[in-house]
Amino acid sequence: SLSKLQLLQRHIRTFPDFPKKGILFRDICPILKDPATLTAVTDLFEEHVRKNYKEVDLIIGLDARGFLFGPLLAQRLGIGFVLVRKKGKLPGPTLSVAYDLEYGKAEAEIQEDAVAPGQKVLLIDDLLATGGTLYAACELMRKQQAEVLGCMVIIELKELNGIDRLKQHSVFSLVQY
Ligand code: PRP
Ligand code: HPA
Repeated sequence: SLSKLQLLQRHIRTFPDFPKKGILFRDICPILKDPATLTAVTDLFEEHVRKNYKEVDLIIGLDARGFLFGPLLAQRLGIGFVLVRKKGKLPGPTLSVAYDLEYGKAEAEIQEDAVAPGQKVLLIDDLLATGGTLYAACELMRKQQAEVLGCMVIIELKELNGIDRLKQHSVFSLVQY
């Protein structure tokens, strides 16, 4: 039978020139369409967390595709999930950090009271490209005086060297291209 990793690999599609010419877009939608694969992905993240971290207080998910996987993992671990959103979506007092994308610009925002000083957090997103998005989220965590235990993604695009940008932090990926 297929391993969890093989199942995952078979549910990532590749589209050339999306959303712009020259970008080879990795599409995670097939993962969500197949419940066994979504379970396998959650299993792989859960196994990584249980093996490497004794204590985690919160899972921090990145807008938008980190929201698809983060809450499933947080539920497995019996801990809370916090949203880092694109600017202008969160009510109440917020902190924000601007960043560059592989194909654009954006600003990441979090509610000021979302994380307490000293809390141990793991960040999750679907994909690491240039690392700009995760870096901005780590900056938000620094502003909140949270302790970033690590970052987790399904896919790492190695040629964009995103991990160099995140060198202060450990980055775990399930699939690399
Ligand atoms: C994609 C992806 C990551 C980010 C990775 O999201 O889901 O969040 O880009 O790129 P980086 O490592 O170069 O920062 P995108 O910003 O396209 O937005 P979306 O999740 O709202 O689709
Ligand atoms: N796929 C999905 N999201 C992305 C990509 C990609 O190849 N690059 C940057 N964000």
